[in-house]
Amino acid sequence: MDEIVSLCKRRGFIFQSSEIYGGLAGAWDYGPLGVEMKNNIKRTWWKTIVQERDDMVGMDAAILMHPQVWVASGHVETFADPMVDCRNCQGRFRADEIEENRCPNCGAVGQFTEARMFNLLFKTFAGPVEDEASVVYLRPETAQGMFVNFENVLTSTRRKLPFGIAQIGKSFRNEVNPRHFIFRTREFEQMEIEFFVRPEEAPRWHEYWMQERVRWYTDLGVRPEYLRLTAHAPEDLAHYAAACSDVEYLFPMGWLELEGIANRRDFDLQQHSKESGVTLSYFDEEKGEHVVPFIIEPSAGVDRPLLAFIVDAYREEEVRGEKRVLLKLDARLAPIKAAVLPLSRNEKLVPTAREVWAMLRPHFMTSYDDAQSIGRRYRRQDEIGTPFCVTVDFDTLEDRAVTIRERDSMEQVRVPVSGLVEALRERLPPC
Ligand code: GAP
Repeated sequence: MDEIVSLCKRRGFIFQSSEIYGGLAGAWDYGPLGVEMKNNIKRTWWKTIVQERDDMVGMDAAILMHPQVWVASGHVETFADPMVDCRNCQGRFRADEIEENRCPNCGAVGQFTEARMFNLLFKTFAGPVEDEASVVYLRPETAQGMFVNFENVLTSTRRKLPFGIAQIGKSFRNEVNPRHFIFRTREFEQMEIEFFVRPEEAPRWHEYWMQERVRWYTDLGVRPEYLRLTAHAPEDLAHYAAACSDVEYLFPMGWLELEGIANRRDFDLQQHSKESGVTLSYFDEEKGEHVVPFIIEPSAGVDRPLLAFIVDAYREEEVRGEKRVLLKLDARLAPIKAAVLPLSRNEKLVPTAREVWAMLRPHFMTSYDDAQSIGRRYRRQDEIGTPFCVTVDFDTLEDRAVTIRERDSMEQVRVPVSGLVEALRERLPPC
């Protein structure tokens, strides 16, 4: 993990939030490469889940919602983790993560206070008056925005069961113990699906989404042996769930959750119907009956999958006696698709190389690098996962052709500049 964290900072993927002030625990900033990769993950997810399916629509709800939403959802009452303090070092930890009664910070044994429940909702105030009546919460999940809009989506799109609503957005949880870099933070992004089905079909759809979601990761190049599905024990289920399985990835710190796929029953629609007084149900015209659909919820983060994609792609190799660090990212996820590299800073080469770069920019996310030897520049691109380097050399000035070098095989092919966009397009899957 240390190698990964260092690479992420050095190359501009991820920085500590407010670093010059000493940082803020549980918050991270995505740099120039990080934001590209994060956007690629979200775009790929949206394409698979919304664009390519005929049974899904997207939406984008506000982060701030009526406070009663969080009463109905059960978050005000039950969204809490047990917390203990170490009497020796004053460190604060999640009680369920303490092993052998030993403080993870100072090592003291048996020095913990009694566990107290700590609500994870971030509270703030809407408007100028800071009183109980103006309390609002930063949403801890995007899901509720889709439940409370069930009726709006249904009537505006005239969908039939089964159908889903998908959403990507920020969520906030006042985690007791943010940790493992971007794995557990207080501000993070989620990509959530709420899939509405007839109650009797819920188990079948639950199974279907488990397989689909694992397939999404393997299709994007994650090694299958580093992924597994783990079912929650009944006593570990969230208050709303009838069943839940996590997609887990084998991180350097162990098997950890990337996303949860839950059967939420009709809990949310029933709760919001009761609290709001607006009935949230579906009228089945064929059967002539009202049904409150069950909901299957594949709920992924963005940050955890991003970390898993980087960890999984990270390789160290030896090439001609030298270490080569490589991010073997799927091209759809790679922040930069092609880097244009003039063989040197020679004044005859640079204008042509810049011309080639300008030609590529409208089509792909690209970069240009002319500092240091060509070998070092290849290594720099390998380290950030750039699938293709385009080299402009002295022959280019004569034959108007360039070399495309592929990241993993390091194979090189010569293509005419006039066909370069097409040649890269053929090699890059659409994203
Ligand atoms: N709507 C259901 C829900 O939010 P969850 O298991 O609490 O379920 C879903 O969260 C996903 O959101 C997790 O699998 C994880 O990827 C991401 N996530 C949750 N809490 C997080 C945190 N504190 N930091 C980063 N990602 C988090």
